[in-house]
Amino acid sequence: PPSLPVVALGAYLMGSIPFGLLISRMGGAGDIRKIGSGNIGATNVLRTGRKGLAAATLLLDGLKGFLAVLLARTLCETGTMESMGLAAVMVVIGHCFPVWLGFRGGKGVATGLGVIWALCWPVGLACCLIWLAVAKFSHISSAGALAAFIAAPLLMPPLSEQPLHSPLPIATLLLTLLIVARHAGNIARLISGHESRIRIDAPPQG
Ligand code: G3P
Repeated sequence: PPSLPVVALGAYLMGSIPFGLLISRMGGAGDIRKIGSGNIGATNVLRTGRKGLAAATLLLDGLKGFLAVLLARTLCETGTMESMGLAAVMVVIGHCFPVWLGFRGGKGVATGLGVIWALCWPVGLACCLIWLAVAKFSHISSAGALAAFIAAPLLMPPLSEQPLHSPLPIATLLLTLLIVARHAGNIARLISGHESRIRIDAPPQG
């Protein structure tokens, strides 16, 4: 079974694949970092008006998070819990700070949701529903993301119900801290009332 450093490096490299940037370029939507929030996540890809590209970005960014944890669980019989927890954090760090983009990457929402599905799928489902509900009613994607990841550590089965040395609570808490920190600009705009709105169900403007 791979050692912990190999798990960490592998998860980081999986997370560092900038699907939003690649898909937007391949789909002819140009460099996604030059529009909207400049973020390489699905929300900003949606601002190009190309819903298909945004959906593909959401799916693939989520999948890399899910697969990183699943691989850690499958490949590491010994120390599985620690490997899963390490992979869970490293894949989101890879998404947020990809070496290929000068460590300036995304905000970790889709990848983080993929990780939570792999750690505890009922919590993953609940977080997706929270994101959808808040984003749909507020028309603000970052509000949905912040609500989902503040809820995640609260929804995770408490440590008392976890197997010994479970990484779930600490990994989830670290994900939440990282993702909230990556939304510092969004939080400032939410407070000042200037956060951009997206109409997920409406045709793209402009
Ligand atoms: O994908 C991150 C989302 O929560 C916010 O995206 O582009 O509005 O900063 P954005």
